[in-house]
Amino acid sequence: MTDHTSRLPGFAQASREERIGILAERLGGNAEALQLFDNLGPIEGGLVDRLIENAIGVMPVPLGLATNMIVDGEEMLVPMATEESSVIAAVCNSAKRCRDTGGFFTSYSGSLTIAQVQLCGLSDPRNARAQILGRTDEIRAICDEVDPQLTSLGGGLREVDVRLVEARSGTMVIVHLVVDTLDAMGANAVNSMAERVAPVLAGWTGARPLLRILSNLADRRLTRARAVWPADQIGGPEVVEAMLLGAEFAEADPYRATTHNKGIMNGISAVVLATGNDTRAIESGAHAYAAQGGQYGPLTHWEKTAGGDLAGTIELPLSLGIVGGATRVHPVAQLCLKILGADSAEKLARITAAVGLAQNFGALRALATDGIQKGHMALHAQNVAIAAGAEGDEIEAVAAGLRAHGRVTEAEARKLLDDLRKG
Ligand code: MEV
Repeated sequence: MTDHTSRLPGFAQASREERIGILAERLGGNAEALQLFDNLGPIEGGLVDRLIENAIGVMPVPLGLATNMIVDGEEMLVPMATEESSVIAAVCNSAKRCRDTGGFFTSYSGSLTIAQVQLCGLSDPRNARAQILGRTDEIRAICDEVDPQLTSLGGGLREVDVRLVEARSGTMVIVHLVVDTLDAMGANAVNSMAERVAPVLAGWTGARPLLRILSNLADRRLTRARAVWPADQIGGPEVVEAMLLGAEFAEADPYRATTHNKGIMNGISAVVLATGNDTRAIESGAHAYAAQGGQYGPLTHWEKTAGGDLAGTIELPLSLGIVGGATRVHPVAQLCLKILGADSAEKLARITAAVGLAQNFGALRALATDGIQKGHMALHAQNVAIAAGAEGDEIEAVAAGLRAHGRVTEAEARKLLDDLRKG
């Protein structure tokens, strides 16, 4: 493919079948391999082309159901979309171990979404700030007119904040529009508001308006979850102490905190993806929030209760929606919301935070005891068997052999497969 140009005029306007034809030609006429793209699953009928540009097919990701969850007193089945083995098993296991204490309890700070308007070139930034803040009512009227439906449902502009940000080129006046976007993730609504209001702000202040876009650091849209795991449900007081030390490690060291949070995002992103929400928005917001204290730190915190049990808490921004975007049009996302019973963005966020906490509990417990590989490799054994060439019934036979030997490697799988085929 390297001797071909990547310029493909007309590719965007071509039908999906035509695009596949062009690609087949590029692959030396190997159309057969591209038959994988024939099956679009639940997003056929032109939806794939409406969702993205230059669509050629779909990349299916497994969808599983986490069981055992109780969130705010409600029994939950949580759909999770992930390609990683062990993730769902860990949530099921962690959720089971805190059922006796009522599961997960959550809170939500509200659905406030921030849009930023950058104003440059002002010699009197403080004066501009005062001017803008003095005209908040006018700004509200302009913004609320942009999305009358949102306003009629009780949403709309709540606050105007003006920050003076010291940049290399001088002081920038950064206007924050804080908008209640209710059940929407809100990017479209607030971006439109920012674009509408920017020239007005420029007119008042004489500034040059530049960027107008939401901030993914959604710290006005925080979700918290907490749960208590009884010591006897997790292996006794030594395991509690070991898990606390493991958590302390993440508090003290950003190298560890990054991996700690990656595990949390294993759960969170899987729910976000299953519900058609924007995984990148959630991830960037979570990681930025984790660095708010000046050093990147963990999104969860772990303590010992007076009774010697393990109490976990999580707090992070979760800009999730149940209306708009892919969530609205993707039939699988719609079904997942139904399975969750998520009739509001708030409920979805609460459940998602609980899953993040459960995920972190599972990882910490495994790491502080047997290590992660024992359980993970047992679940991963089938993938390794497939990678080694096992097919059909051979897959479980080879995987079982790998688990029994405790050596889950491709080389070992190939040996087992050879033996199996020789009979
Ligand atoms: C692997 O995907 C996630 C973990 O590394 C998380 C952690 O270390 O806490 C196991």
